[in-house]
Amino acid sequence: MTESAKQFNARADQYAASEVHRFGPSLPVLIEYAAPTKADLALDVATGTGNTALALAPHVARVTGVDLAEKMLAHAQARAAEEGHANANFVQGSAEELPFADATFTLVTSRHAPHHFRKLERFLAEAYRVLQSGGRLVVADQISPTPEIQPWLDRYQTTRDPSHYAQRTEQAWRELAEQAGFVWVEETLVPYRLDFDWWTKQSGCTPETVAQLREQAAALTPAERDLVGAEFDEAGQLIAHTDQMMVVRLEKR
Ligand SMILES: C[S@@+](CC[C@H](N)C(=O)[O-])C[C@H]1O[C@@H](n2cnc3c(N)ncnc32)[C@H](O)[C@@H]1O
Repeated sequence: MTESAKQFNARADQYAASEVHRFGPSLPVLIEYAAPTKADLALDVATGTGNTALALAPHVARVTGVDLAEKMLAHAQARAAEEGHANANFVQGSAEELPFADATFTLVTSRHAPHHFRKLERFLAEAYRVLQSGGRLVVADQISPTPEIQPWLDRYQTTRDPSHYAQRTEQAWRELAEQAGFVWVEETLVPYRLDFDWWTKQSGCTPETVAQLREQAAALTPAERDLVGAEFDEAGQLIAHTDQMMVVRLEKR
């Protein structure tokens, strides 16, 4: 089983109840960039408990959510039934090997997930493959503000959640998206201020892991603290940091 499936199967109940993930501010921006219509056949990749797929459902003809973690998918399915989204379905599968034929969809989305993907270039190639010409890919994911700070961010994030893989820069995203054949249309940044206690509880951190994270943050220079939005209280305890979520619209022309 992959690290992501292990982590998210274990945290599925907690994730399904998380308001930050369900209502967080990247979601309305992603929906605006996606500009869904009743003609759309949509695919939400790494759908988890279906937050993005079910936000799209009322606006599209059909939406499919795909994810590695079956316990996350079980929540998505239950919520779709509860909310009466008859046009939503969920299947198990990998972002890097999408279980769909070429040109099946007009819209592909992926929110708060590509930083888990081992091979982002494979995901981009797969999204391109399953999209029809004129289709769009809309992604919301945390980025590193500079290439220099990325190793620190990846270490900090992986300490908290071993299924984290890489929080790439906007430039790295641009290069990979264009190599996959996409046209980069527009992007914006949506800041997420994450309370440290909430953030570590959410992923089930042990007291040892919390201590390691505090140590890592304490070692940041003042300039690095600014870059990652690390906040400390008067006693010097880490209380929050801010992730920059990039929302981007790409098109297959
Ligand atoms: C933080 S959750 C995001 C869920 C959802 N997109 C949302 O907006 O709330 C990340 C999800 O990515 C899934 N995931 C990670 N790597 C994956 C991969 N390679 N293929 C498919 N799903 C993956 C995990 O199982 C998890 O459900």
